[in-house]
Amino acid sequence: MTRVLVLNGPNLGRLGSREPDVYGTADFAALAALCRDTGRSLGFDVETRQTDDEAELIGWIHEAADAATPVVLNPAAFTHYSYALRDALATRTAPLIEVHISNPAAREEFRHTSVVSAVADGTIAGFGTLSYQLALRALADLATDPGPAEGTRPAPLKSLDS
Ligand code: DQA
Repeated sequence: MTRVLVLNGPNLGRLGSREPDVYGTADFAALAALCRDTGRSLGFDVETRQTDDEAELIGWIHEAADAATPVVLNPAAFTHYSYALRDALATRTAPLIEVHISNPAAREEFRHTSVVSAVADGTIAGFGTLSYQLALRALADLATDPGPAEGTRPAPLKSLDS
């Protein structure tokens, strides 16, 4: 089974009680279980982690780069300003999907910038915890069909239940 890391930045450990109108009512344990089960159905051994600490998150990105481990990453607020995280991600050796529970583009101005998007294969935002499931599905597709080297992926995703 291919190992996948689902990494989460600051305040995402507070899911369930944190602004439920924005982030929903599922807690972090429920998110981790959803990622594990979705991953298993796609042939992935998923480990989900969360930290409020930028250095710890960067350490996990280094670990993934060293082991060529695909990553689904919700950088949370680091998305918008952490050049250190961005630089760590630029050294990646396996696919990277950026995810967000909410749709940052539809929220405050400071959330409209992602310093991470340019070094990710793609970004999925605005679908609640489904964003993570879609990201795992995208990783599965990338594993079987890496697509054109220059980035755009004209082929549509296969249906979610195939
Ligand atoms: C978030 C969006 C970010 O703007 C915010 O700082 C978060 C969560 C999301 O998942 O919607 O902490 O990444």
